[in-house]
Amino acid sequence: MRSVALCSARGAPGVTTTALLVASHLDSVMVEADLSGGVVAVRYGLGREPGLVTLAAANPHEPGGWLDHAQNAGGIPVLVGPDAAETAESLWRTAGERIVGVLGRSDGTVVVDVGRMWRRPRVLDVAEVVLVLARPNAEELVAASHAVATLKATNLGHRGVRVGVVLVGDGTYRPTEIGDSLGAPVLAHLPDDPTTAAHLRDGGTTSRSLARSRLSRAVAGLADIIDQPAAQVPDVVTV
Ligand SMILES: Nc1ncnc2c1ncn2[C@@H]1O[C@H](COP(=O)(O)OP(=O)(O)OP(=O)(O)O)[C@@H](O)[C@H]1O
Ligand SMILES: [Mg+2]
Repeated sequence: MRSVALCSARGAPGVTTTALLVASHLDSVMVEADLSGGVVAVRYGLGREPGLVTLAAANPHEPGGWLDHAQNAGGIPVLVGPDAAETAESLWRTAGERIVGVLGRSDGTVVVDVGRMWRRPRVLDVAEVVLVLARPNAEELVAASHAVATLKATNLGHRGVRVGVVLVGDGTYRPTEIGDSLGAPVLAHLPDDPTTAAHLRDGGTTSRSLARSRLSRAVAGLADIIDQPAAQVPDVVTV
């Protein structure tokens, strides 16, 4: 299994939107591990189950068994998380180890929507790439720098986890300045694309026409970087 985790540190820079597009480009499954509560089931008119709750209860041991718990969100298989923060937090506290175990035994690529990260979440135990999303304004960047520092201070290092920053929209700071001050490279600068983002927020599909949008094309570039081994991406920091 390969796992790419996306998180934010402040605001709502578009983690869920970007995670769906990354999952689409990597032909993978999205896991909704936002401790503030999931939104994908509501956005796509799906049921609360199956999802992470049924996955944790079933604890499948065969490599493909986890896929029985995914639902179709506009063309992307998604393991939806509980929509209430309390339930999500309780699920990860009581069954986090089991969920991580199932994901670790799975045979595909997973893209994890971690949501806003304020502590090192358990799901990062299986992450190979962690992307911190931020809009390039002072308050989101300061928060992102703390998130990068937290990630580096945890035990991700011994597994060679790659940490990168993804900027969303315009701001007053240049990507190179930002990468230097955040201590992690800026792997992508995604455009403000309200039309595409609203289409996905309102339960739209990741269709062929969407693939031509500015946002989808930019995320395709990010997916290419994720696909490359760290050694071939010179400015990727390995912590
Ligand atoms: N690249 C973008 N350009 C313009 N609008 C965007 C972009 N990405 C997301 N949005 C919009 O921003 C809002 C928040 O997006 P999203 O839910 O993906 O953010 P998030 O970081 O997951 O937020 P939260 O922490 O609340 O889960 C939505 O209205 C979405 O349509
Ligand atoms: Mg979100």
